Amino acid sequence: MSSPQQPTLLIVDDNPTNIKVLFGFLRDAGFRVLVAKDGGNALEKLQETLPDLILLDVMMPGIDGFETCRRLKQDETTRAIPVIFMTALAEAEHKVKGLALGAVDYITKPFQQEEVLARIDLHLKLRSLAAELADKNEQLSDINTVLEEKVAARTQELQDMQAQMVLTEKMSSLGQLVAGVAHEINNPVGFISGNIEHARGYLGDLKGLIEMYRTCYPEPAPEIVEEIEAIELDYLLDDFPKLLESLHEGSQRIAQISRSMRTFSRADTDHQVEFDLHEGIDSTLMILKHRLKANEQRPAIAISKEYGNLPAVQCYPGQLNQVFMNLLANAIDALDEGSAGRSFADLTANPNRIHVQTRLSDDRTQVIVRIADNGAGMPPEVQKRVFENSFTTKAVGKGTGLGLAIARQIVVERHGGQLEFTSELGQGTEFAIHLPLTI
Ligand SMILES: Nc1ncnc2c1ncn2[C@@H]1O[C@H](COP(=O)(O)OP(=O)(O)OP(=O)(O)O)[C@@H](O)[C@H]1O
Ligand SMILES: [Mg+2]
Repeated sequence: MSSPQQPTLLIVDDNPTNIKVLFGFLRDAGFRVLVAKDGGNALEKLQETLPDLILLDVMMPGIDGFETCRRLKQDETTRAIPVIFMTALAEAEHKVKGLALGAVDYITKPFQQEEVLARIDLHLKLRSLAAELADKNEQLSDINTVLEEKVAARTQELQDMQAQMVLTEKMSSLGQLVAGVAHEINNPVGFISGNIEHARGYLGDLKGLIEMYRTCYPEPAPEIVEEIEAIELDYLLDDFPKLLESLHEGSQRIAQISRSMRTFSRADTDHQVEFDLHEGIDSTLMILKHRLKANEQRPAIAISKEYGNLPAVQCYPGQLNQVFMNLLANAIDALDEGSAGRSFADLTANPNRIHVQTRLSDDRTQVIVRIADNGAGMPPEVQKRVFENSFTTKAVGKGTGLGLAIARQIVVERHGGQLEFTSELGQGTEFAIHLPLTI
């Protein structure tokens, strides 16, 4: 009777007497015994059953013991089965060769029953211990993988949280500052433009009065004639309204900047609101104006806009402005970097440019904003890492390496969109923001 716990042995030998002896006492010892008459026969049998141990004769016709062993060890399915060679006492080099081929042991003919059983027992035990060990190892490595995954997930969570906190802090402090400044500017701008109106009126009155004097007193006293010449009265009267006009224009411009600042710093509500992206981009460009101007290193950066006909987008406006800010600031940095070492003449001939394009996707399900610069571009090793938290190629104190990590978080996580880019070293970079339109 064979039971599942009963170990199976395969005897491979061409000598019927040997087989008979071995078969008898091994079966009596409780093993299930299979027999093969040569190497070829053994390899065939192994296709059907995998024994727990193989007793292999060296000298056999056809495929001999060594070759059989070599093939067993080459095959993934049979490699782990322990092989014990059976050899005559005198054949020392057989033992060495057998062990070298991967056999675990050898027994010598004529067989000592006790010895054969002891060795088989030993190797079966070793094998089951090895299997158990492999099992434990696998369990350990499973546990390890789970732990590693947990640690990685937690690290990612913390990094996201950190970026989010920095974002919130940056946004709220910057937002408050900008909103505060905008508010402070508003009052004085208000009374400048309000008073310019009055000044226009007063000037009109005064002019009228002077005309009246001229009509009523066509020949004024000599001191007055002298003074009229000294102050160039006609020029003054002609220039005064122009001067008021430019004061008015200036105050309008300040008011516009103040409006942009308030748009830029729009406090984020906890729900999305409708927002005109163009207003956001324009206000951000306004805030960055001082960085776009000419400086000692380079002429002004040319901004070109290609705005499509966009619907209002449901979003967090303050956060999207932050994305525009980061992308535009990066573009300016890249242009500054690309300008270093170039002559002014060269820079004038091939000017620094930032192109902003907005459009609706062909299927009208999303809005696409592209911000392209013809600056330094990025090598592939930088491209791989730009979205990493704290990755920067900029000097210490200049970049924190959070800009794009935050931008991506806002676009992808807060708005369910995508943030992609293409870049070529020395040619420039283009970032594309895709925002889904929620209908
Ligand atoms: N338009 C671009 N052209 C070339 N390189 C860019 C551009 N935008 C980003 N990079 C590269 O990606 C890196 C990461 O950008 P990111 O905005 O995240 O950080 P940063 O600009 O270095 O610092 P921070 O924005 O926090 O002040 C930059 O240091 C730069 O090397
Ligand atoms: Mg940046």
